[in-house]
Amino acid sequence: MSVCMQEGYVPFIPIGTQTAQANSSGKMVKITVVKTSAYTDQKPGTSGLRKRVTVFQRNQHYAENFIQSIISAVDPSQRQEGTLVVGGDGRFFMKDAIQLIVQIAAANGIGRLVIGQNGIMSTPAVSCVIRKIKAIGGIILTASHNPGGPSGDFGIKYNISNGGPAPEGITDKIFQISKSIQEYHICPELKVDLCAIGKQTFEVDTFKPFTVEIVDSVESYAEMLRDIFDFAALKELLSGPNHISVRLDAMHGVVGPYVKKIVCDELGSPANSAVNCVPSEDFGGHHPDPNLTYAADLVSTMKGGEYDFGAAFDGDGDRNMILGKHGFFVNPSDSVAVIGANITCIPYFQKTGVKGLARSMPTSGALDNVAKALKMQLYETPTGWKFFGNLMDAGKLSLCGEESFGTGSDHIREKDGLWAVLAWLSILASRKQSVEDVMKEHWQKFGRNFFTRYDYEEVDSDAANKMIADLQQIMFDKAFIGQTFSSGDKTYKVEKADNFEYTDPVDGSVSKGQGLRIIFSDGSRIIFRLSGTGSAGATIRLYIDSFENDPQKIYQDPQVMLAPLVDIALRISQLQEKTGRNGPTVIT
Ligand code: G1P
Ligand code: ZN
Repeated sequence: MSVCMQEGYVPFIPIGTQTAQANSSGKMVKITVVKTSAYTDQKPGTSGLRKRVTVFQRNQHYAENFIQSIISAVDPSQRQEGTLVVGGDGRFFMKDAIQLIVQIAAANGIGRLVIGQNGIMSTPAVSCVIRKIKAIGGIILTASHNPGGPSGDFGIKYNISNGGPAPEGITDKIFQISKSIQEYHICPELKVDLCAIGKQTFEVDTFKPFTVEIVDSVESYAEMLRDIFDFAALKELLSGPNHISVRLDAMHGVVGPYVKKIVCDELGSPANSAVNCVPSEDFGGHHPDPNLTYAADLVSTMKGGEYDFGAAFDGDGDRNMILGKHGFFVNPSDSVAVIGANITCIPYFQKTGVKGLARSMPTSGALDNVAKALKMQLYETPTGWKFFGNLMDAGKLSLCGEESFGTGSDHIREKDGLWAVLAWLSILASRKQSVEDVMKEHWQKFGRNFFTRYDYEEVDSDAANKMIADLQQIMFDKAFIGQTFSSGDKTYKVEKADNFEYTDPVDGSVSKGQGLRIIFSDGSRIIFRLSGTGSAGATIRLYIDSFENDPQKIYQDPQVMLAPLVDIALRISQLQEKTGRNGPTVIT
């Protein structure tokens, strides 16, 4: 990214290049202490604090309170020597939030901020930069795949020095501070130019110099990918004599500049193979969510048969959806399993070896089949990427994924959309097969876990909570175990029913209440949980996972195969009766 897109203000302070400067009148940049009232609802969810933009705009000091709470959670002894990385997905309100972060960080003695040009930096790139420059952490401005614009969502997320989302101990601390905050410290006069690459240094009252460094949003991340993958082989696949053609949809999110630079400029894919690549504040009015519903344009283009490989990304670039020719859909639970089974196609893993595999609990057991066959350790964690980070830091985990279009490895501590795409392309380059053939051969070898997820969005919160509480009561009744349920010609017997609980094998911390699981005697699973990333009402997620290794059945339509289990799930939970919802908002 070299084009300056910033408009609208003249920086107050003449910008020093390498050395500390006071402002034009020779005075120090002043710190102001502002009295504020605490909010009770700033509890970070699965992935940071996520609310409607209007909540940040209409409630006085709402963003300031939360930013101060994050910085207050950073040990004062670490601040002056420490660097925070700041970047976001380009959504509405991001630039306002970045200016507040600059002002509040300066006033709280943070020594240095590294910010993506124009504020743009994908979530995986922030993770990469935090690790590379050994920052103490980072602040990511994103609501991921949620819609943007003035009536959409905004989010603020704190990552720690390993490059991953802050663990619960830290997010709880931030929440506690936010509930009792009475004042915040800010340098209201200090404004930075987010557009010009380079260092800007300020002399802040009572603290040593404060430096803001604006960096190219893509370069560090591109350099990391060059080390992970065989770029020569990928270049051959995308632009050699027998090249395949790809269609990558950045969905107007942050990943556009990364795709352009890495896949088009560097790997030689034609410019028109990447679409919707200019980040927009409202994602063109769409949901920047790479699934069959919200990436419908890509799906229909792929159905045309012109492209061999398709992929879409979410707003902040950590999610991915993989499609083959004619729109062949790769379920994310299968995607991570395929990468696991072909992991030696990626040079990075040849160097590091494979330390272990992991999936979140609701993700299908496809990865388990690979782990078993290849004798690799498999971990089952609660939903959310932060649980993988601990395993990676302890050297126990190399590759992991979630059913929610998240795939990644221990190269960073976030899921990584473009990494997943290059992983798939590496497999295609090495196996010289189509996406569909790779997938079908995989099922023949390992069997197939049929999987589907139903999302019921913006359900009345009380109704959703009551449905879950009632269901738990039914499931915890002694008589529930051993009970049989039938639908069509299928009958399932309950073997186990619980609310998933996880003990972290590294630090022993226990996470309770991570989702209601009904496990049947054939291994099929029905899972219910409430989303932790929604911004209004409640989202109920229903997950169904069922293994099949009869070669006659493995190519069937998952919705047909899983219809009896869906029917049973809806009957046991009485979801429709209790929420008044006749059908899900999204089916994956
Ligand atoms: C959702 C996904 C989860 C993912 C998270 C952040 O969380 O289900 O797998 O880690 O977004 O991208 P949920 O809304 O279910 O809490
Ligand atoms: Zn995301």
